[in-house]
Amino acid sequence: MKKIIVASLLAGVTSLLAADGAELYKKCVSCHGANAEKSALGKSQVIKGWDQAKLVASLKGYKDGTYGGAMKAIMKGQVAPYSDADIEAVAGYISGLK
Ligand code: HEC
Repeated sequence: MKKIIVASLLAGVTSLLAADGAELYKKCVSCHGANAEKSALGKSQVIKGWDQAKLVASLKGYKDGTYGGAMKAIMKGQVAPYSDADIEAVAGYISGLK
């Protein structure tokens, strides 16, 4: 019995730590498109096809204010609640979109 409780506690912790890129991307779909194929609000670059490192660099840049164009405030708000792990995960998901 004890073992089962410990195992389920551990499983809970791991799922909290492992950020889910697909889940995190859901709120981006309205602007960037389900496959990242759109220019968000007609202003952003199309991010489909970007590799993970490029996505991570731009998303971290929006978060700390060092990247972006005229509409960067929108993206700063989007990524503000994301941890570094969340950013890695969502970037990994986007870079894998076909
Ligand atoms: C309300 C619409 C909107 C939502 C929602 C949104 N974005 Fe954006 N995104 C934009 C706009 C507009 C830009 C261009 C901003 C600028 O001027 O730099 C942009 C830019 C970007 C860029 C860089 C592209 C470039 O042009 O340099 C990335 C990467 C990105 N968004 C990822 C995301 C991710 C990941 C999410 C979800 C967490 C998200 N966006 C949610 C509107 C949105």
